[in-house]
Amino acid sequence: MNHLQEKTEFENLPSRAECIQEIRTWLEQWPDQPLAYVHSFGCQLNVADGEKLAGILKSMGYGFTNQIEKASLILYNTCAVRENAEDRVFGTLGSIKKLKQENPGLIICVTGCMTAQKQVADKIKQSYRHVDIVLGSSAMNTLAQMLWMHMHGLKYAEDISMQIDIPEDLKPVRESKFKAAVPIMYGCNNFCTYCIVPYVRGRERSRQPEHILEEIRNLIAQGYKEIMLLGQNVNSYGKDLKQEITFPELLRKIDQIPGEYWIRFMSSHPKDATPELMDAILSCEHVAKHLHLPIQSGSNEILKRMNRKYTAETYLSQVAYIRGKCPDFSLTTDLIIGFPEESEQDFEQTLAIVRQVKYDNMYCFIYSKRTGTKAALMPDSISDAEKSQRMQKLLTLQREIAVENNQRFISRILTVLCDGESKKRPGRMTGRSSENILVEFPGTPDMIGQFVKVQITESHNNMICGELI
Ligand code: SAM
Ligand code: SF4
Ligand code: F3S
Repeated sequence: MNHLQEKTEFENLPSRAECIQEIRTWLEQWPDQPLAYVHSFGCQLNVADGEKLAGILKSMGYGFTNQIEKASLILYNTCAVRENAEDRVFGTLGSIKKLKQENPGLIICVTGCMTAQKQVADKIKQSYRHVDIVLGSSAMNTLAQMLWMHMHGLKYAEDISMQIDIPEDLKPVRESKFKAAVPIMYGCNNFCTYCIVPYVRGRERSRQPEHILEEIRNLIAQGYKEIMLLGQNVNSYGKDLKQEITFPELLRKIDQIPGEYWIRFMSSHPKDATPELMDAILSCEHVAKHLHLPIQSGSNEILKRMNRKYTAETYLSQVAYIRGKCPDFSLTTDLIIGFPEESEQDFEQTLAIVRQVKYDNMYCFIYSKRTGTKAALMPDSISDAEKSQRMQKLLTLQREIAVENNQRFISRILTVLCDGESKKRPGRMTGRSSENILVEFPGTPDMIGQFVKVQITESHNNMICGELI
């Protein structure tokens, strides 16, 4: 830019719209459209944030590329939930240093949950000097201003402030043409003792229902077939709003929108998974018949030390409620193995509850110590070898359960949302059933993004197969 004027004081910056306009005018003078490479790590909420960050870049005139070496801007949207997630980001940042050396005009931005932590932002500033812009997960609406400052000569721009307002005017660039993630709330109030999320994402903030409904109406009008509602605990949706609305009420309002689509949601904290929620799932035509209900451990002692605020017994009574109304209702869960001082007996209780609930799928994680959380201060004497052994036992058990569970679909006709071609078997397509089970069937790529009917003929531990009818 020819009118360099360094402004480092945040308050004196032009507005986001002014920054976008100025950058757009500048980029339009480039001989070719500049391309951005955007990659999000972590959970679906982070991926949804990445789509909004891409939306800001698009409004400035950037196109997108999957080939990092063709990009004039690289944005990594990071995750802090486990240590290996952070290690991957530092490794990736190290590996792109040479791209900056080859092309000093390349802009590198790091955003997300990892950089919401001051010590991480400081480490990047000091040790990864090829990074130009650092933003925290709650500061994404200042991306344009940070870029504006960088383009006006500021070598390193950072905003890791915790902004509580939810920007409603950021239009995402969605990866899929038929599945859309719709965050309904941000942040978390629960402070599970192992978890970094409340520290990097701040307190719960719910979006206004009319904004959510309008977004979903537009998506359905554009032909989207699956809407995934997202929040760290969707069951506390609305508690911070002036108008009285609960999550089951929101589900029922969405369900009234006419069209051919499914609604999914995650995550649901068991402490707030009420009978009203289960009744809404079962009675709403568009709500998929699947509930992700993270249990984390089957031991009451561990649940207490995790600050989860439910017991194995209350959890089982919720399972009994929904399975009482729908006997083969699909449940999936998250589990943490090797929480500080998890005894063999605690672990046996986890295996026992997994055997009893018979989940269709689970995500198991080895406990990772997160600085700043309460659990990080707890003594932790279980060896890594022991944790890995427990993990293997759990995964073996889950495979056995899934083989048995998947047999319930044999001969049944399922509605499946086709989402791609099978990577292993040419001429076959894959998709998910309402229960979120992976289904493979013969078909053609024009089915991608459409609902099809499949009669199930084979079941395996990780998928079921069938014939189109
Ligand atoms: N809010 C969701 C809930 O409470 O179910 C979970 C969101 S968290 C991003 C996803 C999963 O990561 C958690 O359910 C938990 O199993 C796992 N997790 C979180 N912190 C962890 C840690 N320190 N070590 C290992 N796994 C962790
Ligand atoms: Fe983390 Fe617990 Fe909040 Fe989920 S509910 S994000 S596990 S603190
Ligand atoms: Fe998600 Fe990771 Fe942040 S799991 S909320 S991106 S810490």
